[in-house]
Amino acid sequence: MVSGGRSMNKNDKYEAQDNEIKERLSKVKHKLLVMSGKGGVGKSSVAAYLAIALAESGYKTGLIDVDLHGPSIPRLLGIKGKIQPADTPGKIFPVAGIPNLSVISIEFLMGEDRDRATIWRGPIKIGVIRQFIADIEWPELDFLIVDSPPGTGDEPLTVAQTIPDAKAIIVTTPQEISLADVRKSINFCRQVKMEILGIIENMSGLICPHCGKKIDLFRSRGGELVAEKEDLTFLGRLPIEPEVVLAGDDGKLASIRDKSLAFTEEFEKILAYVVDLIKEKE
Ligand SMILES: Nc1ncnc2c1ncn2[C@@H]1O[C@H](COP(=O)(O)OP(=O)(O)OP(=O)(O)O)[C@@H](O)[C@H]1O
Ligand SMILES: [Mg+2]
Ligand SMILES: [Zn+2]
Repeated sequence: MVSGGRSMNKNDKYEAQDNEIKERLSKVKHKLLVMSGKGGVGKSSVAAYLAIALAESGYKTGLIDVDLHGPSIPRLLGIKGKIQPADTPGKIFPVAGIPNLSVISIEFLMGEDRDRATIWRGPIKIGVIRQFIADIEWPELDFLIVDSPPGTGDEPLTVAQTIPDAKAIIVTTPQEISLADVRKSINFCRQVKMEILGIIENMSGLICPHCGKKIDLFRSRGGELVAEKEDLTFLGRLPIEPEVVLAGDDGKLASIRDKSLAFTEEFEKILAYVVDLIKEKE
């Protein structure tokens, strides 16, 4: 139990809510949780781009952002949340993104409360996250991509426990300090018994725009070595790509899929790998 179950009431409430969440997520075939031990490694960008690529490949895809402190999905996709109430009272529909993609961000619900989230204490955050996940009326989906908060604290724990059949994709950068955090994420997944689909190494080198050679700003292969050592699948590496920053800042992350960039090329390989792995396990 996340918060130690202070009273019977709370346990009962959680159990009822767990069932409700299970029911709501039963229309989703595959749930993927994008996580990282450390902030700023590109989780949200990878989660959003993965959802875009899946949707454009014809999969019915959902993208949910559960980061109370930094919900960045609406910004990356340029979506403003116009929440529609669902047929079931108190429930809401996700917002339409590009074709095949439904998006919901905790930001759509928090509105002006966003700054307040920083003073919420653990149990309140846990309650808000659970309620949020319970309230969304998803359509039938092939994939649901969850952009989870960084770290291994209460918030990612709540997400992991609320969506127990999700598989984790761990994002890291290649340098040592980030790899220490990736080990924490791996242990976290093992503790909550969440299957790890694999590791993605992001910001892995920069392709020189002048000569096309790769410059390893933060070393290289770190993510791959951890994967090897921990007997996990290495899903691939994504280079540092200034267009990712620009497109993300402009709310047009979907637009880079049409460009021929090393980032998009590598991402297509990762996408194919992820889909293969999932199909293998079906
Ligand atoms: N491969 C990449 N190349 C260049 N910039 C990138 C790449 N991946 C992510 N970024 C940039 O790095 C910054 C952080 O990315 P993002 O917000 O996706 O990280 P995050 O892990 O979700 O962060 P947080 O922990 O705060 O949620 C953004 O400005 C994003 O555009
Ligand atoms: Mg993020
Ligand atoms: Zn060069």
